[in-house]
Amino acid sequence: MSNITLKTPEEIEKMRVAGRLAAEVLEMIEPYVVPGVTTGELDRLCHQHIVEVQQAIPAPLNYHEFPKSICTSINYQVCHGIPGEKTLKRGDIVNIDITVIKDGYHGDTSMMFFVGEPSVKARRLVRVARECLLIGIRMVRPGVRLGDIGHAIAQYAHEHSYSVVQEYCGHGIGREFHEAPQVLHYGTPGTGVVLQEGMTFTIEPMINEGKRHVKLLRDQWTVITKDRSLSAQWEHTLLVTESGYEVLTLRSGEEI
Ligand code: MF3
Ligand code: CO
Ligand code: CO
Repeated sequence: MSNITLKTPEEIEKMRVAGRLAAEVLEMIEPYVVPGVTTGELDRLCHQHIVEVQQAIPAPLNYHEFPKSICTSINYQVCHGIPGEKTLKRGDIVNIDITVIKDGYHGDTSMMFFVGEPSVKARRLVRVARECLLIGIRMVRPGVRLGDIGHAIAQYAHEHSYSVVQEYCGHGIGREFHEAPQVLHYGTPGTGVVLQEGMTFTIEPMINEGKRHVKLLRDQWTVITKDRSLSAQWEHTLLVTESGYEVLTLRSGEEI
């Protein structure tokens, strides 16, 4: 957990495979995210696809006793929502977070879905949260410091009068789900870990419409905004290349 691993070319190839599979789960589940579906059903479909089609492992299942194969976080839920009997309704926004293990390596990605037609304010929050991720990704290259990236993400969120969750962050990723370094979505320019070619990590900003503060539900997993304001999150797994970055979890047709 404390050493940053630089991936070899062989490991990078395995990270590419794991990342592609995680992205493909999000592509697969998209048509099922409709009013009336339960999050438990979305979990079942993703689990089945990962295990049977991809012959991979859903990393969340039993991770620190998490009970399901994906995370589903609705409206004012920030992250780590547990799929269950809850039915999605028109106007909801939901984050689906997928992590797969293939050949010993992890790919981790999440995105927001609209259930039916979103409100104007939900649409704006989801758009700005994605822009926060993209601002971070586009800065990735050797020599840049994590404090530079965190600062740029938070500045952009604040310009739009949103707040950034501080209790949860991006992370190194590889053989382990959560490796060093921690990738904070706020920070001070010129500080923090200096990026090097071969690092793999996630950026996954959680952006709140109201205040940044969060609380943990009694289920010990689901994180919600303390003020019950809407929250949105997007996540990609990235590789630092010689000249910049590679998005290992890019979906087909997605542009950064
Ligand atoms: N996928 C989440 C992340 O982006 C972690 C989920 S941990 C779980 O780091 F146990 F809730 F699955
Ligand atoms: Co992650
Ligand atoms: Co994730």
